[in-house]
Amino acid sequence: MQFSDFSSPAFFANPYPFYEKIRAAGAILPVGPKAFVTGRFEIIDALLRDPRMGKTYLQSVAARYGEAATAQPVFQSLSRTLLMMNPPAHTRLRALLMKTFNARGIEKLTSIVEATTHELLESVGSRAEFDLVSDYAFPLPVRIICRLLDVPVADATALGGAASQLVAAFDLAPLDQNGLHAADEAALTLERYFHGVIEQRRAQPGDDLISAMLSVEDEGVRLTDEEVVSNAVLLFIAGHETTSNMIGNMMIALFRHPQQMEALKQDPKLLPQAIAECMRYDGAVQMLVRTALEDISPGEVSLARGSLVFMLIGSANRDPSAFPSPDTLDFARNASTPSVAFGAGIHYCLGARLAALELDVAMRSLLARFPAIRPVDLDGLAWHRRNNLRGVTSLRVYTR
Ligand code: HEM
Repeated sequence: MQFSDFSSPAFFANPYPFYEKIRAAGAILPVGPKAFVTGRFEIIDALLRDPRMGKTYLQSVAARYGEAATAQPVFQSLSRTLLMMNPPAHTRLRALLMKTFNARGIEKLTSIVEATTHELLESVGSRAEFDLVSDYAFPLPVRIICRLLDVPVADATALGGAASQLVAAFDLAPLDQNGLHAADEAALTLERYFHGVIEQRRAQPGDDLISAMLSVEDEGVRLTDEEVVSNAVLLFIAGHETTSNMIGNMMIALFRHPQQMEALKQDPKLLPQAIAECMRYDGAVQMLVRTALEDISPGEVSLARGSLVFMLIGSANRDPSAFPSPDTLDFARNASTPSVAFGAGIHYCLGARLAALELDVAMRSLLARFPAIRPVDLDGLAWHRRNNLRGVTSLRVYTR
């Protein structure tokens, strides 16, 4: 198997047989100079929790695009996010962001998520057919983030579009000149937008995440304006396509397993387990990357300092040594081994609680409103051609 197989149409349609071969071929496989890939649960779970593995974002930008590119707005902006930092800077920023995120009570989050879901289902109305991705799954999380930041929902499409341009800068395949230019423009647009919001919230603080980020303090340390902007942008990037794709992936899994779909309709109390199982079975995030910050030897392989490790979390979640009969979608699965669909260790998804709530409300409301929902065509699905985020570009459904 070649690493280039990772960009074949067959891989994007169904990466799991490829992952099986990678797991069988060894614990950690070399794929290039100082570059490795692993698909095994035990190794990935351990490496994600290992303080000797970390992020070297700007170095990897320099390796892919040349040193000068690290000054470009898109890469500068992403490098200031929580996602790209190592301790101690990560520890401090995460503590501050956790405080602002947790300050939203679950009741407030629930009412925002329910109102947004209701509004989107109303706009679908009594149509006999609609696109579950563009009409529901895609706009839902971005409108919710707008409400959490208290920016106009009318700006959701533009902000979501700009966030998607930035997401492209995360993928394995380097962007071409046009893609890079678009990502830079998107970063600048988002920065200008949020600097404007900061000015406004300084003058008139409100009950929203930006005001909370501006006022939060930990032992006298505050977030800088740059950090507030980059991390407001991060919420769009991290919370948007992940959640949208997961709604689509979950519906596809249910359509392909009619018995489980029926069980869920009969007993909606199964929903939390069904969500956790669908995230394991076909998660929205498939791959994470870490760099060895010093020489280490996991799984009998030596990783020299600076080695990149591509961790296939989609594969880890199908590893039979962690999940018996991993290719079976089983809502009654023993949850004693949690999947790594939200990551593990210090970068574990900050929005996991919000994501679980969004999926719960989105799925519950959808199945209640359209009990006879069924796919128009499950065979011709168009999967995004990305290695890190998994989802379809469209999913047409009949409502009756
Ligand atoms: C189903 C939806 C979601 C999935 C599958 C998901 C998955 C993940 C994963 C795997 C990571 C770890 C990244 C790494 O280790 O490099 C992560 C981090 C993160 N997620 Fe999520 N996420 C989801 C939804 C959200 C939402 C709704 C938000 C917030 C609005 C969010 C905010 C974040 C943030 C801020 C981080 C960075 C945490 C850190 O670096 O300390 N995510 N997410």
